[in-house]
Amino acid sequence: MSSSSLNAADGGHSKDGSSSLEYLQTGRDVDLANVDLTFEGFRALARNPHLTANERIGFPETYRNGFEEAILRDISAKLPALLGTGATIVDIGPGCAGLPHRLIDLCRERNHRLVLVDSAEMLEQLPDVADVTVKIAGSFPAIRDSIRDQVGQADVILCYSVFHYVFVEGNPFTFIDSIVELLADGGRALIGDIPNISKRRRFFASETGRRFHKDFTRTDTEPDVRYNEPNPGKIDDAVLTGLIQRAQAAGADAYLMPQAPDLPMANRREDLLIIKA
Ligand SMILES: C[S@@+](CC[C@H](N)C(=O)[O-])C[C@H]1O[C@@H](n2cnc3c(N)ncnc32)[C@H](O)[C@@H]1O
Repeated sequence: MSSSSLNAADGGHSKDGSSSLEYLQTGRDVDLANVDLTFEGFRALARNPHLTANERIGFPETYRNGFEEAILRDISAKLPALLGTGATIVDIGPGCAGLPHRLIDLCRERNHRLVLVDSAEMLEQLPDVADVTVKIAGSFPAIRDSIRDQVGQADVILCYSVFHYVFVEGNPFTFIDSIVELLADGGRALIGDIPNISKRRRFFASETGRRFHKDFTRTDTEPDVRYNEPNPGKIDDAVLTGLIQRAQAAGADAYLMPQAPDLPMANRREDLLIIKA
């Protein structure tokens, strides 16, 4: 795997315009490391018959295959109500791969109501489970009133590996405001798996990071750790600090948390936990 794919998995952008909807929907070998993905782009990927479930959610197989249990364990440690019973859980952007299938099983076992919010194309690839799943097709936060009308407030909101797309397409503060509004008193929201370019640079500027890069790329090249230039579309420490302050201004507590070290991108991604008293 090339160092460019390392970059792309952290929210990279196509330089050659290859992310046309037609290409995403019909391409046999979509170069997931080098595509721009948007809500519409994901709808196209979801329809592509040549892709695996992980590829339809934008991940090369090696980034997700076999990691689902570890990811769900880390999520549950931050959202302990998942391990209780009878809660209302909203998953924003569940996609159609292993993670939502495991979450559906957990909710069935624990009598939770699970509200799945994504495009119709993604949602139709997930099972309908009586008295458990509620599917609401649309893009968040635009769809927030419909969620509120259908399910009221949520004890738990999960939005995993989605925020970097919202950040490029919409207003991140409207997103945070809408999450806090949707959360019931005592509830928790996890905006998880956020690529942080500042954290990435800190890691790759370290001796451990340089070694990781060389092993990963099987080259003797140095990682790119330039910092003194604009990075349009990338999330950095400043963005995350701003999100924390925005959630706090709306009356919730907010914390930036590391991912468990056995997660595939723990060295360059972080989770934002929002807690309502
Ligand atoms: C990288 S996938 C992550 C899927 C899943 N959360 C996981 O971690 O396995 C991103 C998902 O978010 C969805 N998505 C992107 N923007 C969204 C938005 N504004 N509202 C709801 N879903 C969105 C995409 O359709 C896609 O299914």
